[in-house]
Amino acid sequence: MKVGDRHYRTIWMNEDGRSIDVIDQRWLPHEFRVVTLKTVDDVATAIRDMWIRGAPLIGVTAAYGVAIAMNEDASDAALDQVWEKLHETRPTAINLRWALDAMRAHLKAYPESERAEAAYARAHEIADEDVELNRSIGANGLELIRRIAAGKKPGEPVNILTHCNAGWLATVDYGTATAPIYMAVEEGIPVHVYVDETRPRNQGAQLTAWEMNGHGVPHTLIVDNAGGHLMQHGQVDMVIVGTDRTTANGDVCNKIGTYLKALAARDNDVPFYVALPSPTIDWTVKDGVKEIPIEERNSDEVTFVQGRAADGSIAMVRISPQGSPAANPAFDVTPARLITGLITERGVAQASPDGLKAMFPERS
Ligand code: MRU
Repeated sequence: MKVGDRHYRTIWMNEDGRSIDVIDQRWLPHEFRVVTLKTVDDVATAIRDMWIRGAPLIGVTAAYGVAIAMNEDASDAALDQVWEKLHETRPTAINLRWALDAMRAHLKAYPESERAEAAYARAHEIADEDVELNRSIGANGLELIRRIAAGKKPGEPVNILTHCNAGWLATVDYGTATAPIYMAVEEGIPVHVYVDETRPRNQGAQLTAWEMNGHGVPHTLIVDNAGGHLMQHGQVDMVIVGTDRTTANGDVCNKIGTYLKALAARDNDVPFYVALPSPTIDWTVKDGVKEIPIEERNSDEVTFVQGRAADGSIAMVRISPQGSPAANPAFDVTPARLITGLITERGVAQASPDGLKAMFPERS
């Protein structure tokens, strides 16, 4: 997608042909910075400390991390070590394990002398595949927006609420939840997006709002607690969110607060959709609430807020009393029964074991 007049992906090869460059998301929306990741330690830090984030982009970055590791040491032991090191960085997003498994399985078939080249080639493929998956999710979600628009008065916007950032910054390009929105805008369908700020790290306020601004998508930033009220007053036509892991029975794990939005949507008959590429489906898990590990992040993310100070510096500001403990579960699970549909690259699936099996019969 565009930053100013220039097209960017979130991740690309550095000109040295070995390192990778990523958009450093810690500084957005205030500053657009690119950082080069040269070593596996750099990659692990970038994922753990959320220089990059979003389930699909975490997976792609890890794939490049494996390539960087293979460039140093292409032995089986090194392959296992990089798998372990990167796997522990963020426990909830399943795309991380998917990408690491895909890389390891692929590379085992190569002799050590060819592994580095094969690893970079496979990482490029995984990045390109992500773009194509999101394009297809966009086309399938666009159809849902078209249907709602058809029931509106001419010029009246389709109001879409989204949570966290499941935009192009969370993927290689287009985003998952945002892909249908960008396509609707391209097609000239009037849309308006309610952007949840998404405490504690404010991915909505800092990243989704920045994306919407950059692409001229009409939007309004709201506090996380406003969604239910807006739905009660008929101001939301649909919710579209992303996911970090979706189970074989259609439960959806996503950024903390998603579950409350789904409850409010159900109470107000607002359709609640989740956009996801198939690598986000964890076919081994049946009960999301019981089985998905929920990342507990540093409590400083709750007790401090980052922003631009009056002197122009980017500052962390304490918002709670010293000594008050804080808890920071980063994700929650929305049960399948609250979900209207799963927008995948193949079509919109029912959030149920049968719905997912029908969409991905090779998994039955
Ligand atoms: O903690 P984050 O910022 O990595 O969480 C991201 C989300 O929850 C996204 O909604 C999810 O990864 C889907 S991104 C296409």
